[in-house]
Order: sequence, then structure tokens, then C-alpha cells
Amino acid sequence: MIDLKNSMTLSFSAAAQNEAFARMAVAAFIMPLDPTISEITDIKTAVSEAVTNAIIHGYGNNSEKNVVLLCSYENRSVYIEITDYGIGIEDIKQARTPLYTSAPELERSGLGFTVMETFMDSVDVLSEKGKGTTVRMAKKLMDSDNKNDMDCR
Ligand SMILES: Nc1ncnc2c1ncn2[C@@H]1O[C@H](COP(=O)(O)OP(=O)(O)O)[C@@H](O)[C@H]1O
Ligand SMILES: [Mg+2]
Repeated sequence: MIDLKNSMTLSFSAAAQNEAFARMAVAAFIMPLDPTISEITDIKTAVSEAVTNAIIHGYGNNSEKNVVLLCSYENRSVYIEITDYGIGIEDIKQARTPLYTSAPELERSGLGFTVMETFMDSVDVLSEKGKGTTVRMAKKLMDSDNKNDMDCR
């Protein structure tokens, strides 16, 4: 297997339409790793949730603000970091509790972090009230060897 190490950074307006941009940008960036459809879907879903949170909760939909997205990979491990410099999270444990939402009026499900945890191998949340939030996620993609096995079945 070829050793691959690569990284990119994006900074974009905290506008709803950039959620689709962000998840497609990540999907395009990791294409050289030849991920499976389900791996791409998992990663795109997790990115969508984190970016939506940054836009809606972090910045209160203020599109004058910027969301920063870092994506890198080394061999088959993909690392994603989504940062906002918005309101921050006072109680991270509570925020990560399934079904907890601070915005029920926006018809939020409170399952964003649960979705990220389900689809990624690890999710770390770093946040300070008034300073902002960084969500760090990682996922190791299946080895190409295993994928070939699956194709043969
Ligand atoms: N980037 C963020 N900035 C501030 N608060 C956040 C951020 N991300 C998540 N939160 C808080 O964590 C809660 C739970 O997030 P999540 O599980 O995605 O549910 P939902 O977005 O449906 O409310 C949010 O309601 C919000 O209070
Ligand atoms: Mg959410």
C-alpha cells in the first residue's frame, strides 16, 4: 500500500448552503483513498452535523462569521476538525447527551453528536464559553485488501 499523507484547510461563511459545500469538499479530498460508498456517506453525515452546529448554535446563523474546516489523512486514517469562534458550549457532557438540544424551537433533534459518534471512530469536543468550539473527529477507512475480499464474495 502507498503511504499517503495530505491535508487541507477551508474557511467559509457560516451560511446554511455551505453545509453541502463542506461535506462535498471533504468527500472530494479523501477520494484518493478510494473510500467505500458507506464510508463516504458516514463521513459526509458527520461533517454536516458538525458544520450545522457551528452555523446554527455557534454563530446563531450569522453569515458574517467564518467556520474553519481542517481535513487530513495519513495512510487510511482520516482526521477532520470543525471550528467556530462563536458562543461556545458551557456543559459539553450535557450537549453530547442524546436528545439534548438547547434549540427545541428550531425543531432540532438533539442527535447531532450522537450521529457523529455513530459514524466516526472518535469524536472530541473542545469548547470554551464565549470563545468557540472545535469538534475533532477521526475515522480509519477499511484496508483495500479487505475491500477486494468483499468484492470477490
Ligand atoms: N458549535 C457549537 N456551538 C455552541 N453550542 C453547540 C455547538 N454544537 C453543539 N452545541 C450545543 O450542543 C447541543 C446538542 O447538539 P446536537 O447533538 O447537534 O443537537 P441539536 O443540534 O439538534 O441541538 C446543541 O443544542 C447546542 O446547545
Ligand atoms: Mg446539531
